[in-house]
Parts: sequence; structure tokens; C-alpha cells
Amino acid sequence: MTASGPWLHCADGRRIFDGSSGLLCVNVGHNSSKVAARVAEQLSRFAFGGAAVVRPRVQMELVERLCRAVGRLDDHVALPTSGTSAVEIAVCLARNIARVRGGERRRHILTSALSYHGNSALTLALAGNHARRPRPEDAFGLGPAFPAPYPPTHEHGRAKRACDASCADEVAVAIDSREAETVAAVLLEPVNGTTGGAFVPPDGYLRRVSELCRERGVLVIHDEVLTGLWRTGTPLASNHWPDSDPDLCILSKGLGAGYASVGAVLVSPEIAPLLRHEDADPLPAMGTMAATPLQAAACLGVLDELESMDVDAFRARGERLGARLRDLTERPSVRDVRGLGHLYGVELAPGLLWPLMEEIQKRGVFFYPFTGTGHPRRSEGFVVAPPLNSTDEELGFMVAALSDAVDALERNQ
Ligand SMILES: Cc1ncc(COP(=O)(O)O)c(C=O)c1O
Repeated sequence: MTASGPWLHCADGRRIFDGSSGLLCVNVGHNSSKVAARVAEQLSRFAFGGAAVVRPRVQMELVERLCRAVGRLDDHVALPTSGTSAVEIAVCLARNIARVRGGERRRHILTSALSYHGNSALTLALAGNHARRPRPEDAFGLGPAFPAPYPPTHEHGRAKRACDASCADEVAVAIDSREAETVAAVLLEPVNGTTGGAFVPPDGYLRRVSELCRERGVLVIHDEVLTGLWRTGTPLASNHWPDSDPDLCILSKGLGAGYASVGAVLVSPEIAPLLRHEDADPLPAMGTMAATPLQAAACLGVLDELESMDVDAFRARGERLGARLRDLTERPSVRDVRGLGHLYGVELAPGLLWPLMEEIQKRGVFFYPFTGTGHPRRSEGFVVAPPLNSTDEELGFMVAALSDAVDALERNQ
């Protein structure tokens, strides 16, 4: 097989459109010449230089370019090896900062019932995606602490009302029921990824979460592993809502873009100095293979690609894509379409996911399936997340194939 841009070229001659950017990571497409040039240049110089021994310039350049790309110029940055390890590092850093700032008892990390934060024992235990951690005994007594603000998963008792910013008050309840002085941080995905399928929070929700955490001395960590670096149409998903900036922000998929296994934890300048306070514990924030010069070079190539995009045209393409996908909700088999930018969840009527995936694949397109958490209503569907630099024509091919597949499925029912 070979691949270029959003296309996978199979050995048998078939061509498949990569409608989910691999595992929602190949954001700048396959076989990027900009990434290849950066990697080739770095490879001809040296591949490895541990940060503890030397300070490779390419790593410094990556930190600086990354901070500029997401508009957090003065942040301090750790560069671990994956999304999961970045979440783990963020948890360690947040607990350390919270203890220095707010006292030794600050330790809890609170997460939402509809969340995924990685596949280590700790991140699986913390998150709400029970499909990936089915056994309660594997939770180490941890687990999600508050409902996610999304109508099908969040019940409001007898009140039949939609979710709105006031759903954030349940985060306050979760903090207060544990005593605020024992909570280090709230960890959440600003826009839901693959657990529920691209749910978008109500306007004002993230700001309210930030406010009520600040009032209680609790840090906010945004897991933007999937959404970061333009996936939702802005550098960070939180940029869609004013005053929603987190204290710590985690990136990964869109940074390595399938070319390098990296993560990044950005820590705001207001709290980062506490990590050097005399009461702070020492923390090894990077591993052996974290942002090696070769990987850092690949990331710089990814940022070169992202910065070469015409932002207005890119955003307009995302909006057209969303509008065309939302038209599908007129079909009986499509229950809902939600999302932003180049990230959409297409929720289907129960039982249709796998037959529809088969129809779609026959038409030369691949999407990433989701099966929800099963609480209280099981949701199933797939995530539409094409490479950000796909052309209008390519996106047109993808949506036409999807629409045609829905037609075929409904005809055969
Ligand atoms: C929101 C979120 N956080 C963390 C992770 C874990 O990242 P990785 O698979 O790179 O370890 C993922 C992966 O899908 C994710 O979607």
C-alpha cells in the first residue's frame, strides 16, 4: 500500500479516501513533502540527542513554534511520547502545582462521564469510556465524577430540558462533595472525541467550568489530544468560546500527525514557576524517546503544513462539510450529526453501524466508528474527520459516497 494526501492506494489497485485521518491524527494528509524534507534534513545531521544531555535546537524551535501556533506564547512545555503519556504527565504536573499552591491534600483529578484520556491503567481508570475499561475492579477506586453536558447522555431528572451552561454546576457539585481542598484539577475534552462522537458543549459551559474551578482553587486541564491544532477549525477547540483557556493543555495527535509519536503538555506561565518552587517534587516530565530531534523535525514539518493553509478557505470548507453532513439527518437512518470544523459525529439508528460501514467502504471511503458508553442510551455511529488539507472536490467525493451508501442501506431494509 502507498498513501498520499487523503488517499490510501491499496496493493490491489483500489483507492480509499481516509475520512478519519487514520486514527484522527493524519491531519495534514499522508506523504507530506514538507514533513519529508524536515525529517531528511534532520536525519542527515543526527537523530537522537537526549534533552538531559544536550538541548537540541530543533526541540527548542518546536516549543517556540507550537506556542505560537496555539496562541499561548509564554507557556512552559513538556514533550512526552504520546497522547496517553501527555495526559499522565499533565496529571502529575497538576497535582504537584496544586499541592504547592493549595496544600498537601490536593490530589483528586475529576473527569466527565463521557471521556477518553488514553490507554494506560491510570487514564483508563479515570475516564468515562467504560467500553475500553469494562471491569469496575480495574478502576483502582477512581472513575468519572460529573456528567458530560450532552443531551442524550445527560439526564436532568424529571425536567425534560436541553443541556446548557448551567450543566457546569455539576462540576461544582463534584468538587464540593469531595471538599474542594482535596481536588487538584478537572480534566476534560473541550469537544468530545470518539467516545460519544464529536459532541460540542453548550455555549458558556467551558467558561463556567473555568470560573467555578478558579473560585475553588482547582486547576483546569483540557485534553486536546484529538481536537488540538485546527481539527475543529481553530488552533484549540477552546478558542471557540471566550474566557475558556485552561491552566494546562494537552496536545498530541495533530502535532505528530501520524509522522511522529509525540505529545505536548502546555502549562500556563501563571502556574509553571511553581514547579520550580522549593516545595515542588522533582518530576521526570519526558521519556527516553520524547521529542527526539527526528520526531521534533517531523512536527516542525507538520506545523509548516498547517501554517501554509489558507485559514479562511479552510474554515469555509469545514462549514460546507458540516452543512452537507447535517443534510443527512433528513434520512431515517441518521439520528444526529454534530461537530465543528473538520470533526463530525454521525449518529445512526441502532444496528446500522456495521452494515453502513460496509456500504461506505464499498464506495472507497473509510470512517472511524464509535459505540458510545451505553449510559443511559447507547449511541453508535462514526466520526468524519478528513485531513485538514483535503480539497473541496475530495470532500465532495467523500460526502457523495456516504450519501449513496445511506441510500443503498435504506433501499435494502
Ligand atoms: C482525547 C484523547 N486523549 C488521549 C488519547 C490517547 O492518545 P494516544 O492514543 O496517543 O496515547 C486519545 C486517543 O485517542 C484521545 O482521543
